[in-house]
Amino acid sequence: MDVYGLIGNPVGYSLSPPMHEAAYEALEVDARYVTFEPPADAAAAAVESAATLGVAGLNVTIPFKQGVLDAVEPDPLAARIGAVNTIDFTGERVTGHNTDAAGAVRAFDEHGVSLSGTAVVVGAGGAGRAIAFGLADEGMAVRVANRTESKARDLAADLRGAGESAADATGHGLDALADLLADADVLVNATSVGMESDGTPVPAGALHGDLSVLDAVYRPVETRLLRDAAAAGATTVDGAWMLLYQGVDAFERWTGREAPVDRMNEALRSRL
Ligand code: ATR
Repeated sequence: MDVYGLIGNPVGYSLSPPMHEAAYEALEVDARYVTFEPPADAAAAAVESAATLGVAGLNVTIPFKQGVLDAVEPDPLAARIGAVNTIDFTGERVTGHNTDAAGAVRAFDEHGVSLSGTAVVVGAGGAGRAIAFGLADEGMAVRVANRTESKARDLAADLRGAGESAADATGHGLDALADLLADADVLVNATSVGMESDGTPVPAGALHGDLSVLDAVYRPVETRLLRDAAAAGATTVDGAWMLLYQGVDAFERWTGREAPVDRMNEALRSRL
């Protein structure tokens, strides 16, 4: 039996165990997915222990996404983002990946959203960094807006340093949102605003019908931002899709098999 898992602190509310175990059941993979809560300063030790115990794969969440970087060989995207959310122990080396970027990109793809033109990413924390790099790699011009403007500017500089496709990335405060959105094609909320509350980081008046909007928040599934976006005629993609596709990407990386996406989605949505 293969053991997969999640390290985070806390991990009690994670939806990854039912999502991955639904996939194992559907494909008759002999595996279990368990959660671990190591002490916050023990990221590297946790990775080494998992390797010693023969764990096949780990997802990584707050507060360990940066801390595990030193204990794995990050792929180029995870290294640029500066955070790892998926560790693969099945190869010769322990490798680190960031499937949040792919999760956001695939959530848009599966909703028929073409990732060209200009994207506005609100938030410059871990999720914002992953999504901004994912969209820039698709060739989008990325504008980052963040409450702490200096973090948005720093992320934009990192994006510009990462390659030609991101040469025009810019960083702003939240007060610039209305201007930034006027001619934008894609909007992503990568802040925690709207999580278990009815807040939104984006003024409703700045939204319009040519936008496709992803909210990385998935509790609640229908956030105020998504309601406002739908009312403005925008295409909406809820955060459970991003959560699903980051899990799908991890499953496929670990097992080398095509994920049973519908079964994983059912397991996830029935618990939200
Ligand atoms: P995650 O890994 O989920 O991205 P994080 O790294 O703690 O978490 O980042 C949280 C993001 O939400 C940041 O962009 C943060 O803005 P600051 O950089 O200014 O802290 C944003 N955020 C959190 N609470 C917010 C609020 N009340 N209003 C606006 N932005 C907020």
